[in-house]
Amino acid sequence: MCGIVGYIGHRNAYPIIINGLKRLEYRGYDSAGLALFNHDLISKKTKGKVADLEQLFVTKAETEGHIGLGHTRWATHGEPNDINAHPHISNSGNLVIVHNGIIENYDAIKQTLIQRGYQFESDTDTEVLVNLIEDVMRNEKVGLGKAVQMALNEVVGAYAIVVFDKQNPDEMVMARLGSPLAIGIGEEEYFIASDATPFIEFTKNAMYLEDEQMAIIKRGAEPDIRNIKDDSKILPYIQELQLSLDQIEKGGYEHFMLKEIYEQPNVLRDTMRGRVLPEKNLIKLSGIDNYLNKFLNADRIIMIGAGTSWHAGLVGEYLFEELARIPVEVEYSSEFRYRNPIIKDNDIVMPVSQSGETADTLAAIKLAKEKNAFIYAICNVVGSSIPRESDSGTYTHAGPEIGVASTKAFTTQVMVMAMMALKLAKEKGTISMSEYNLYLSELAQIPEKIEKTLKTDLYIQQIAHFYKDATNALYLGRGFNFPVALEGALKLKEISYIHAEGYPAAEMKHGPIALIDENMPVFVIATKKGQYEKIVSNIQEIKSRKGKIIAIVTEGDTQVKNLADHVIEIPETLEAFTPLLATIPLQLLSYYIAVYRGCNVDQPRNLAKSVTVE
Ligand code: G6P
Repeated sequence: MCGIVGYIGHRNAYPIIINGLKRLEYRGYDSAGLALFNHDLISKKTKGKVADLEQLFVTKAETEGHIGLGHTRWATHGEPNDINAHPHISNSGNLVIVHNGIIENYDAIKQTLIQRGYQFESDTDTEVLVNLIEDVMRNEKVGLGKAVQMALNEVVGAYAIVVFDKQNPDEMVMARLGSPLAIGIGEEEYFIASDATPFIEFTKNAMYLEDEQMAIIKRGAEPDIRNIKDDSKILPYIQELQLSLDQIEKGGYEHFMLKEIYEQPNVLRDTMRGRVLPEKNLIKLSGIDNYLNKFLNADRIIMIGAGTSWHAGLVGEYLFEELARIPVEVEYSSEFRYRNPIIKDNDIVMPVSQSGETADTLAAIKLAKEKNAFIYAICNVVGSSIPRESDSGTYTHAGPEIGVASTKAFTTQVMVMAMMALKLAKEKGTISMSEYNLYLSELAQIPEKIEKTLKTDLYIQQIAHFYKDATNALYLGRGFNFPVALEGALKLKEISYIHAEGYPAAEMKHGPIALIDENMPVFVIATKKGQYEKIVSNIQEIKSRKGKIIAIVTEGDTQVKNLADHVIEIPETLEAFTPLLATIPLQLLSYYIAVYRGCNVDQPRNLAKSVTVE
């Protein structure tokens, strides 16, 4: 995820772009860049934040121009450094581009362009795209708009791009597929940005490009909007922005946490993009492919992590053992690092981390490396310390997570583990081909099923209102859903400060049952697949002690419905994938309970997003 800002009009573009980028830094802040046209092209970029970029623009001539674009990067491919930062400029020096997204077939295009004499400075897919556009302009003798369209019809992937030609600095071209792009429309001026925050003080009139649409914008002319595929003309739909600055930064959601809960269907699509290919019966994970023998010969996987990432590791334990038949141990990094762990030659140590900076997990990796372990990281933040310290790994592509209580980071971690376990199950032959195909097609449907699960939101608000004054809560689950119970309890205590415990449902009899009375809400994950009858018995036990039961059930369930005080339905899926769905209502429940209690949801007391101290 990255942030884009562009301007063309009668004002000075520089302050608009710099201030706009600052507002978009929530979208990523590992590098930034800005290009302006003032008699010639001025383009500067740097690793670091927008404030670091600002230091590079000194003179009046460098900070003035009527057309320009800027970018703040959250690296997905290619480490965050000066060269990989945007904008990227074509070989002729004429075209300048910023891009948010991933061009999956960039390598093949790059090879063709190299054969035609093009040279590349960076590792990015974006530099390939700008040169492809230039190549089309040159060979087909077409203008920039047409060349962008033709080039985009050759690429596979996701993008929001803005590009201009310094030889024609009164025109800008932009396009969108999968990544957002808003156009603010003023008097003889246009503002372009990943969301409307950079231009809210200049104009309230905006239009949003839809997927597969592009726009050619000229000063003083109507925008020319086209369908990228068939070139059909589209009438601009201009809307009046109603939102305040604060709201827009959160995409219209009251809190980042809610926004991030709702982002899950799309970020899980990003996690799978170019990796889960059901039409080819394939899961592509280069991190594993490069070390396939290590995985095929692995005697054990040792997962290490903290907080929510540790919970994802527990789901991973069930996934790897069930599908790929590899024994798994899951350890708190903070414990692992201070014992003298036994690591053998054929063990794989697998750190799991959203931030990639958690001090205990980093220290645990260092210890494992001293013992010659092979380290495979599952991480969200590209180029952070944990992946850098590891031998190989898989990024989760959840995008920046700002709410301190982790939501989309968890589901994307579980998704990565599901992809890995399934891929290894196929390689090892531990599941049949028909089972593999079933798992694969089910995995691809998870985002859609989460969309359906999110429709329970209004009902969940009612339940949350009912239990907002609870002082304790219990979360129960079995098998794959035991870690979901732990994660549900963690979410509640983190943001609402209600004391909550997660337990394997059968363990309830060994302690927590003593706490159950008519004031105790018990959240039970009671989906049809797995040990359903056993969990129904556990629900009976709670009911006979007058506990309040809130159950997550599979669509169409009747048995639990008759016993529970509230039921929340989720779509049916394979047992191994239920954590990806069952987690969603528990996130929403915690969120709304915290909101009703007046808590600071995004920045709960005493917690931090990234714990870089022991
Ligand atoms: C902090 C965060 C949690 C997170 C944990 C581990 O406690 O508040 O949300 O799960 O650290 O962080 P990591 O970045 O390693 O996943």
